[in-house]
Amino acid sequence: MQLSRQAAVTRVVSATRVALRHHPDPGPVLDRLEERLLDLVVRWDLELGDAYGEGIGGPVLAVTAGGRPAVLKLEGATAAFAAQVAALAAAQGRGHAAVLASDVAAGAVLLERLGPTLASAGLPPDRQVAHLVGPVQRTWELPVAPGQEATAKADQLAGILRTLPERVLSPAERARWAPALNEAGRLAAHLSSTRDPDQEVLCHGDPHPGNALLGPETTDGDRSYRLVDPDGIVTEPEYDVGVVLRDFSRELLAAPGASAARDLHAGLCLQAAAATGTDPERAGQWAMVERVTTGLYLRWFHDDDTAATFLDSALLLLRR
Ligand SMILES: Nc1ncnc2c1ncn2[C@@H]1O[C@H](COP(=O)(O)OP(=O)(O)O)[C@@H](O)[C@H]1O
Ligand SMILES: [Mg+2]
Repeated sequence: MQLSRQAAVTRVVSATRVALRHHPDPGPVLDRLEERLLDLVVRWDLELGDAYGEGIGGPVLAVTAGGRPAVLKLEGATAAFAAQVAALAAAQGRGHAAVLASDVAAGAVLLERLGPTLASAGLPPDRQVAHLVGPVQRTWELPVAPGQEATAKADQLAGILRTLPERVLSPAERARWAPALNEAGRLAAHLSSTRDPDQEVLCHGDPHPGNALLGPETTDGDRSYRLVDPDGIVTEPEYDVGVVLRDFSRELLAAPGASAARDLHAGLCLQAAAATGTDPERAGQWAMVERVTTGLYLRWFHDDDTAATFLDSALLLLRR
């Protein structure tokens, strides 16, 4: 082991401890992190570079592997990480970052290195939606792994709406965002009671613009975005479309009034549903549930400012 490699590993471990200081459950990522990283550096012939700052999980590092550019993502050896790697591997690079190597027991995956995120491209919401729908649909075409159970996503989100507000919001904040919290709860119950397992497919689960990365230029000069960070869950396609639509809080809040914000959002719902052949009403319902639960989730991760934009934009869309 070269001294510089050991120093690079030590640097990554220290930076990860600092980055995860507000993380509600850092244990799986930090567990034997130095040992795992040292082993991977040797086995995959890695030179460790800088960490990407846009995620909220374990370290994601620009690396070279055998001298070629790649990205190393380190998580814990959890079931969620196994599902992530399985979905990426199933995609075989179509619409997603290609997997160069993986070791789920070591909580590690090595990916082809892609370009900047769609979130950083400064595009208007309709252009971002247009870029996201293609790769999201590719996920739905992938085979579900034998034995993989469907996720009761609406029930899961209903559970978050029942428990998280008390934990992460003050009584005054619960009162302020009550219309959004109540509507999201009502919609989650509706989506659960009208669930049709026959319509469920492998979904990305988190196709937001920070998880879409610019792909390489193709021979016809086209450059499309590719997804990383899939949850790899089985649920209905409208769920993924709802996640695509749950962003753009800042643009909605900047619209000249509630009616303009609602029109902007309704237009995006129709655009995304038409492009994917999904039900715009259900996609919009998932988007509201996701907008509110993501706001709560971000509070849990202590990103209070972004959380407020999600919850405030939900209130705005509900204002009559
Ligand atoms: N294959 C890749 N190529 C280039 N950048 C990447 C790649 N994978 C991840 N990144 C960068 O790292 C960030 C975090 O990665 P991600 O897998 O989304 O982790 P998290 O689970 O923390 O959200 C991404 O938003 C992107 O900026
Ligand atoms: Mg991510």
